[in-house]
Amino acid sequence: MTRRVDLRSDTVTQPTAEMREAIAAAVVGDDGYGEDPTIEALEQRFAALVDKEASLFVPSGVMANQIALRVLAQPGDVIIAGRGQHLVSFEMGAAARNSSVQFATLDDTTGTLALADVLEVIDAEGDHQPHVAAVTVENTHMLSGGTPWDVEDLRVLASAIGERSLHLDGARLFNAVVATGTSAAEYARPATTVMTCLSKGLCAPVGSLLAGPAALMERARVERKRLGGAMRQAGFLAAAGLVALDTMIERLKDDHVRARQLAELFAVAFPESHYDPSTCQTNIVSFNHPQARQLVEELAQLGVEGGTVAPRRARFVTHIGVSDDDVDFVASVLSGFVPKARADL
Ligand SMILES: Cc1ncc(COP(=O)(O)O)c(C=O)c1O
Repeated sequence: MTRRVDLRSDTVTQPTAEMREAIAAAVVGDDGYGEDPTIEALEQRFAALVDKEASLFVPSGVMANQIALRVLAQPGDVIIAGRGQHLVSFEMGAAARNSSVQFATLDDTTGTLALADVLEVIDAEGDHQPHVAAVTVENTHMLSGGTPWDVEDLRVLASAIGERSLHLDGARLFNAVVATGTSAAEYARPATTVMTCLSKGLCAPVGSLLAGPAALMERARVERKRLGGAMRQAGFLAAAGLVALDTMIERLKDDHVRARQLAELFAVAFPESHYDPSTCQTNIVSFNHPQARQLVEELAQLGVEGGTVAPRRARFVTHIGVSDDDVDFVASVLSGFVPKARADL
């Protein structure tokens, strides 16, 4: 069988043996009645990690983001967000459908938002423009290549927007934590609400968590029900989530080392991309290429599977299923790779 290295996403990870044991042994109950002790333990554990009053276990990262918008904004409000954020570009227009909000989208090609751009949108409220309810940020920022925020920039942003809410899409928050040494609590402190995904690099099969002030999380619980995300004996999933938080965070560093090695290889293989591998700080290699889709297809045929995340933008993601040996394999594929794509440039 042909060798295949799956770099499409860190969502392809499988639950570990320890997770499978925890799932089998989990004590569960009907969470609709507040009777699942494993879910309760997971929610408390995450709330403690991000130093928030309460948290809520939800089926997916998208639902965590969507619930956050529903509790932080009213229909017609403006949400300031980066153009490339998951909430804006990868949730199938869910914010419009679920919350009837509109986005003021800002440039986020480097992964962060410029404070001046944010303040300009807020300032426009004084000129008959709609109310800005919240700002959302993504940490790490996927599209730019898994870029972590500098926590000081988050603090400055939070204080500049005053009473308005700040939502932190931390689908890969723990990648940012291990890359920067900033704790999850420090990252979460400037934010009103923070979410993380258990089912990406942390390898749990299903589930995300949303955290924030207790009163907001009570409302979030109602919104979860409205969106059909209230689950019953989901402690089986929460059990894997607890193992994820307890055992899988530190090892994300290995993914980061391998991603950087891949970044160097891709930068050399595709000089036309002008990709700077030092921008790869976590587990995502992402670069522009005039024929990214074609390139990704050609590499997949050789056993290196990646994806595209925007027109002319390729992405390759490391995770627990990618070994040093796999990096060597990618190196050997790239060294002999003459892209047909390039012939048309
Ligand atoms: C930054 C970011 N936010 C949210 C999500 C949504 O997570 P899920 O796929 O669990 O709905 C993703 C998923 O890839 C993501 O990358």
